[in-house]
This record gives sequence, C-alpha cells and structure tokens, in this order.
Amino acid sequence: MDWSPIRIRWNSIYRKLLVTYVALTALGTSILAIYILWSFYGYFMKSRQADLDAWSAALGESIADALEEKDLDRAKLTVQRYGARESVTLRLFGADGHLLSTSAPEIDRQVSDWYAVAGVKEALQNKFTHGVAKGILSNDDRLFVAKPIVRNGQMLGVLRMSITLDQFQRQFRSVIFTILGTLVFTVLLCAVISERLARNMARPIKAMSSFALQIGQGHLDGNLSIHQDDEIGQLATELNRMSQRLASLEKERRAFLANVSHELRTPVSNVLVTVEALANGAIEEPELRDRFLHTAQDEISRLSRLIQDLLDLGRLEAGVTLLEEQPLRLQDLIDRAVRAVESRMRSQSVGIDVEIPSVQLYGDPERLLQAFLNILDNAIKHSIPNSTVFIVGKIESGQIGVQIRDQGPGISQSDLPHIFEQFYTVDRSRQGSGTGLGLAIARRIVEAHGGSIVASSKGEGKGAIFTIHLPIDKLL
Ligand SMILES: Nc1ncnc2c1ncn2[C@@H]1O[C@H](COP(=O)(O)OP(=O)(O)OP(=O)(O)O)[C@@H](O)[C@H]1O
Ligand SMILES: [Mg+2]
Repeated sequence: MDWSPIRIRWNSIYRKLLVTYVALTALGTSILAIYILWSFYGYFMKSRQADLDAWSAALGESIADALEEKDLDRAKLTVQRYGARESVTLRLFGADGHLLSTSAPEIDRQVSDWYAVAGVKEALQNKFTHGVAKGILSNDDRLFVAKPIVRNGQMLGVLRMSITLDQFQRQFRSVIFTILGTLVFTVLLCAVISERLARNMARPIKAMSSFALQIGQGHLDGNLSIHQDDEIGQLATELNRMSQRLASLEKERRAFLANVSHELRTPVSNVLVTVEALANGAIEEPELRDRFLHTAQDEISRLSRLIQDLLDLGRLEAGVTLLEEQPLRLQDLIDRAVRAVESRMRSQSVGIDVEIPSVQLYGDPERLLQAFLNILDNAIKHSIPNSTVFIVGKIESGQIGVQIRDQGPGISQSDLPHIFEQFYTVDRSRQGSGTGLGLAIARRIVEAHGGSIVASSKGEGKGAIFTIHLPIDKLL
C-alpha cells in the first residue's frame, strides 16, 4: 500500500477535522478570554467603588462636624486638601444646591447648572448615588459618589466625590492586548497541532478508502498495513479479511468453472467419439454396435447426473431451493435410503447394520434422503467385499447424531479437510469414482436444515466415519 504522500482534497475528512478542531479551540479560548476580562473589569470596578464609598463616608463625617459647628472654613479646607488634580475631585454643595467648595475651581467656574451633574440632584433630595459618569466638561469616564450630609435629620449639604478611571482603562487596554495576543498564539499553536492530528486521522481513512476502491475494481491482491488499536484498526483488519475472502471466492469460482467445463467435456467427447465410430461403420457389426451404444448410454446418463448435481448445488448455494419442510420420522428416512441401495450392497456383498432411535425431525424428506444417499453411496463404493456399513444414531442435547461408518480404506488426514469441496476426489484420475459433488451437496442440504456434517477416519484401512447432526423436532 502506498502510504506517504496523501493528496488532500478540499472537501476531505482532513479539512473537516481541521476546521472543526481550529474552530472549537478558537471558540473555547475566546469565551474563556472574554469571561476573564469581563470578571476582571467587574471586580476592579466594584472594589474601586467600595473604596470610594468608604472614603466619602469618612470625609462626609468630618465635613458634617465642621458644618454643624458652622465652621465653613474647615469644611472647605477638607475639600481642598483631599482633592488631587485630575485624579480625585471633591465638591461640597450647600443644602440649597450652590457650590460651597471645590478642589477643581478652574473647571467648576465654567459650570452653570450643577443639577445636570450626575448624582447632585438626587443627593440634594437626600438620596445616596454612586456609579460611572463622564467627567464634567471632559470626556473621560469617572467613578463618582454623591452623598447627602445629614445630621440630626437636618440636611447640611452634599458631598460629591469622583475619581478618574483613565489609568485603569489604559491598564485594562494593555491587558486586553496581552490576552488577545495570547489568544492568537494559542489558536495558532492549536492549529498546528490540529493539523497533525487531522492528518494522522485522515491518512488511514484515505488509505482504506482507496483500498476499498481497488477492491471494487477487482484488484484483490492488495493488503492494508494499518496497525491501530482502535475502530480504524479493526476496520482495516476487516477490510483485509474481506479482500482475502473475496480473493479466495474468486479463486474458487474460477476453479469451479474450470472443473465444470472439464467434467462436461469428457463425457461429451466420449459420446462424440463413439457416435463417430458408429457412423464410420461400427454400426454394421452387431457386437461393436451394442458395446458402443452401451458406452454412449453410460456417458449420457453420467452427463445427465452431473448436470442434475450441478443444478442442485447451484440452487442450494444460491438459496433458491425452498425446502418443503414437514415432520418426519428419522427411521423412515433411513429405511428408504437403505432400501434404495439394498440391491447394490447385495451385489457387492456388503452388509448393513442399522440402529436408530425413534425421533421425529422437521425437514424436507426428499432433500435429506438425497444427503443420506450421497454418503451411503460413498460408503458402499469404498467398502471391501464381505464388510459391513454401520448406521448408528445417538441423541445428544437436542440433536441427533447419525454416524455412517464403513470398513473400507478410510480417508487420509491430508484429504479429510478437502473432501467436502466441490469436485474434490481423492483419486485424481477419477477412475471409477464420481465427480466429487456428492459430499458438497450433502453438506449444503444438512446445513440448510440447521445441522452439520463431519468426516473422520481412524487411518488407512480402518474405514471412514461420517456424522450428520440434525436438530430433533420431537422424541417419539
Ligand atoms: N466412505 C469413504 N471412504 C473413503 N473415501 C471416501 C468416502 N467418502 C468419500 N470419500 C472420498 O471423498 C471424495 C469426495 O466424495 P464425494 O462424494 O464428494 O465425491 P465422489 O463420491 O467422488 O463423487 P460423486 O459423489 O459426486 O459421485 C471421494 O472422491 C472419496 O475419495
Ligand atoms: Mg460420492
């Protein structure tokens, strides 16, 4: 399998994985950054506001003392002392709303309407207010507190205090840039890692997809070498297995075709030669004529048997044959099979010994008979004169096992695994033997009935044993 360069198409799995990974990291890190910035801003504002509130409360108390004592100068001094240019501004209003004192006189000279300044009106109505507002005459954001100064239920004035947020906002901006920079860096780093990840994930998928394509085009000799301990690895293993199985099926198909044509050609050419010989004069000689006609008859019946077998096998294989299933007694079935081969056995001096328990099966009697006959036929064919064929049935956990044992030469260990294959015969010259379809057909029939069939042999000269297992319908 060619591994190294994989061409990445734009609508490929690689691209989808990459886009998903990068989008997810970008989204995740952005949400995190926004949350951090937002809570940082909120926390800072809250703590500054609390400082300012506490501060104004303390100053408010000392100004209240001064005002109560009608010591306006002390109150003004406090206002001016605690004010700082630009950053902290303090203003003191009288209860009637006019400005008593300010720490920023240059600015305040330009203000005509103090009611428009955030918080002043509310404070004069004895309402404490704080928050963020634009600076007076300037555009910077400032945190302010407007606090009514009340003693013994009497409104003495209003203290308004504000601090600039300029410095904080500058710092906050630099924090934003730092975080943005980190964000971009993180996303880029993730993109690089994701690229590798996506490539690594896409590579085996791509390899499998082209492998499947190759299989589809009939190239079954390839092999995927993907060794991963996950679903992709499993899929690759399955694909390899599938391609091997297809390759072996393909091989079987070719062998089958070759066998079929070979098997058909032999009897046909035999008949042809015989008929030619008859036409060329043999018909004139009675003895030759009879012999040749006999040969032709034999070959034609062999041909017809072969064609019937092939048809049966083809139908069974394709699952076209519908079984005409019905309850049937196993003993009746075996009796019919034995009766069918009785005369042949007698002529070959082969005895038979049957011992079958009384059980009922559910199946197609004609098909099952065919399966038993195929095996019995082999047993008789391979029996030596004056030997016996044993048919013994045993009930084993819901199944009946029928053993058909002969005393012939048996089957060698090297042939045993193959005898159920189509056209497999031990005697390759096929002298006197069949075409090698009998057992293949028997196995298909038994398997179609939910049973199984196995062969064993105790060694050369010790006979062969075929055991058919079938599900029992009922004990009788
Ligand atoms: N009882 C047995 N003893 C020894 N060899 C056997 C026995 N049964 C089957 N075999 C071997 O298994 C091979 C396959 O059997 P199978 O019945 O499929 O084919 P066949 O008998 O040669 O031909 P067919 O049954 O199609 O006329 C046989 O050729 C034979 O060599
Ligand atoms: Mg046979």
